[in-house]
Amino acid sequence: MGAVGQATTGGLLDRYDETLARDPMAAFGLVREWMRTDWRALFAELRERRPVFVTPAFTVVTRFADVTEVLSRESVFSVRAFGPRLDAALGGPFMLGRDATPTNWRDKGLMQVMLDQRDTARVRELAGRVADEALDAAWPAGRVEAVHDVFRRVALRVCADYFGFPGPDPQTLSRWTRAVVTDGFANYAGDPEIQAASVRAGSEMTAYLRDRLAERRAALRAGRDLPDDVFTRLARTDLPAGLGMDDERIVINMAGLPLGFVESAPGAMTEALDQLFLRPQVLARAVEAAAEPDPAHFDRHVWEALRFNPFFKLLPRVCERDHVLAAGTPRSTVIPAGTFVLPAPASAMFDPDVVPEPDEFRLDRPDHHRLFFGYGHHACLGAHLAGGVVCEVLRRVLRRPGVHPLPPPDGGVVRSGGIFPDRFVLGLGSAGKAG
Ligand code: HEM
Repeated sequence: MGAVGQATTGGLLDRYDETLARDPMAAFGLVREWMRTDWRALFAELRERRPVFVTPAFTVVTRFADVTEVLSRESVFSVRAFGPRLDAALGGPFMLGRDATPTNWRDKGLMQVMLDQRDTARVRELAGRVADEALDAAWPAGRVEAVHDVFRRVALRVCADYFGFPGPDPQTLSRWTRAVVTDGFANYAGDPEIQAASVRAGSEMTAYLRDRLAERRAALRAGRDLPDDVFTRLARTDLPAGLGMDDERIVINMAGLPLGFVESAPGAMTEALDQLFLRPQVLARAVEAAAEPDPAHFDRHVWEALRFNPFFKLLPRVCERDHVLAAGTPRSTVIPAGTFVLPAPASAMFDPDVVPEPDEFRLDRPDHHRLFFGYGHHACLGAHLAGGVVCEVLRRVLRRPGVHPLPPPDGGVVRSGGIFPDRFVLGLGSAGKAG
């Protein structure tokens, strides 16, 4: 997916139109397949020929201005596509499933306080340390399966040590997050088994958190010292009863932390590293930058690599009332209420009207061209922490001499469900040693 050199082939839309006339289901299948395997070519053609791509099943929005318009009109374009799934898993409302509501406003405010921006350096350091431990352990073997043994391991340790949510064990926490995120964001067909697995995982997770909250409260009453993690901060916080910030809100917001992080951070690390490996000259410069004491220059390589394959390519929304999108432009389109709308950050970040020379790998792009962490009302609450973690882990990986992708059959990123990276074996040390 998103391989370097992937070119606009032209004609994808012609094939779509012909197929739609003959067999609408097959046309839908084609678009879904291209989204998975050929998304850059598809989006390039859509931006050019049909920037607001209306199909009988959904509408894809591809230009930067229109993607940000959708994502910043939360009362028109709601998260009802996945909100009820998250609610069902967690047994109550979670901010990402609620638009422009008192719940979203209040919970977001509280969690922004708890996820203190001043923690960024400490969390980055923690991530770097865990990555180094994992790489040291793998070094004698000359290879490492990076997704689970480095990237997820780091994410789960950040959950344990910084959020204060280790789970009964990392494997169980990992299983819970995968089940809930799969249903929320990858179960477009509404498979009831995937939904049931998510509800089971969510109720195990919230039951676990209720018990841990009671323990933390008891420890605080007994005057015992607790680590300064997000969970302890929440357990210590006494808000006026009338605000409705009861223990169940703490449990649900705590559950939301690994849901936001454990799939997306390893996903971003994998895709960015894969993109760097595809560009040997860029990789060589990234390796040099990884050695610099100040990581700022190195980080730019990661963000630009991720632009070429962002983990979240589409953010699902439901249009709640008729809306004229891109009003006053030639692409102005009425989106009728009830439409399933897919704004595509992955396409917006290649829109030449906003992003100059989008097909070039450039390190001088401004932050506001990056839509990895969403935009507008639901923009990511953990972006400051996640950004540091993603970049630092890759920095530690690229500081190791001779890290390289393996050739087939062992090499390449293996994704489960076409979305979640689950295997990416790297050689460590000289190419001859690994494999
Ligand atoms: C410390 C780790 C993280 C935490 C605690 C976190 C938390 C959250 C929360 C609570 C929201 C919803 C905000 C709202 O409802 O207004 C959100 C949204 C989002 N997050 Fe994160 N997140 C983390 C890491 C990441 C990573 C690594 C990525 C991707 C690389 C990411 C991408 C997003 C995106 C795209 C959205 C917007 C979703 C939408 O609008 O539909 N997050 N995040």
